[in-house]
Amino acid sequence: MNILLLGSGGREHALAWKIIQSKHCDNLFIAPGNAGTLQCGKNIDISVNDFEAIKKFSIENDIEMIVVGPEEPLVKGIYDFLSSSSNQSGKSWFCIGPSANGAQLEGSKAFSKKFMQRNNIPTAAYAEFTKDNFEKGKKYIQQHTLPVVLKADGLAAGKGVVIANTHEEALNSFEEMIIHQQFGEASSKVVIEEFLDGIELSVFVLTNGKDYKIIGHAKDYKRIGEGDTGLNTGGMGCVSPLPFLTNDFMQKIETEIIQPTINGLQKENIIYNGFIFFGLIKVGDEPFVIEYNCRMGDPETEVVIPRLKNDIVELFLSIYNNTLKNTVIEFDERACATIVAVSKGYPGDYEKGKFIQFNNSVIQESENSIIFHAGTKMNSDGTIVTNGGRVLAVTSFGRNIADAVQLSKNVLRNIFFEGMYFRNDIGYEFRSES
Ligand code: AMP
Ligand code: GLY
Repeated sequence: MNILLLGSGGREHALAWKIIQSKHCDNLFIAPGNAGTLQCGKNIDISVNDFEAIKKFSIENDIEMIVVGPEEPLVKGIYDFLSSSSNQSGKSWFCIGPSANGAQLEGSKAFSKKFMQRNNIPTAAYAEFTKDNFEKGKKYIQQHTLPVVLKADGLAAGKGVVIANTHEEALNSFEEMIIHQQFGEASSKVVIEEFLDGIELSVFVLTNGKDYKIIGHAKDYKRIGEGDTGLNTGGMGCVSPLPFLTNDFMQKIETEIIQPTINGLQKENIIYNGFIFFGLIKVGDEPFVIEYNCRMGDPETEVVIPRLKNDIVELFLSIYNNTLKNTVIEFDERACATIVAVSKGYPGDYEKGKFIQFNNSVIQESENSIIFHAGTKMNSDGTIVTNGGRVLAVTSFGRNIADAVQLSKNVLRNIFFEGMYFRNDIGYEFRSES
């Protein structure tokens, strides 16, 4: 079948790399894609938010399946838009993603907190405020234990969370968000919640809103600086599997978090045919939900997808033909790590258009590594240049995490662009594991 994948990051290159390995895939189109997805299919110059153009392209090119990478079109209702349309043969598309209602799990922190409360899913205690009860919110903050966490309700490109160590800092952020609309409409409502102290991890599930399968897990390194210092980024690297994620702990996550989430979707008639990203924190021996995302993570996808042995298009089809329940998920048991190379200045301002040079003679020998592109673009003369903050994600397999990280670093040392930076310490907590 012909498949259209929406997005342009490292996540989409990893998904594209996997989709073309499927026996079900005849042609893959990526909108808009990057210089890496060009190796997997045809890039189409359509924005992920231009639903009419996506529909028109899909009809004209006999697309049968549409896989949505990023959250924005999902929150804006692409699933619902495509479901209410039909392709040329009168059939509907296999659209991989939740309905707008389901995407609210990510699109509104207040929605997801209420959903968790209704369904008894462990998460930090919280309250929500708008400008109508702003004074009450200030009192709430003044009486809150420290640190206190403030979250803009809506999508804020990963920047809407503040962990305040003083009441003054919290009050300032609260005012910035609600009164000065720091994140526009997204911060017209603010969730204030208890700080949870523990180890973060992410678990990924594919679901049809009734059945589900765990397709992987990972730990992300969010800060720009080594030793987890400096500003938050979209993610500087990931490792999987996690040595501390024992079968017992995974069972607890399933029983206390995943199953109640899926049951909640079903009970509340929320249509959901896609990925759920559970952002979790392990406090003592207990898992809590920090956040839901309605898509795969980036760079988590760059380790989760290479470790997944199943045919991914078959998995997507199983959502629709009710065979997901009986599918057995198989993993590559080797350790996997990805390291992200970023532009100078990221996550602040950065320049684009820097020429990327690959020392191919060395890289081609690295059969246990894959170079996923994120913010890259191919110029008309065939050269590849930087086109974003996160530029490349180099994934490697190894006997253990230390090995995998080392391999990725070896590859990165054979790639050059002006101002290139990557963290040397990805997976540092697990370096001594065998
Ligand atoms: P989010 O955008 O919701 O993923 O939050 C960004 C980051 O803030 C998370 O990855 C956590 O590191 C941190 N965070 C969010 N909520 C909490 C919380 N209640 N307790 C501790 N850390 C949190
Ligand atoms: N790496 C975090 C995210 O994709 O949200």
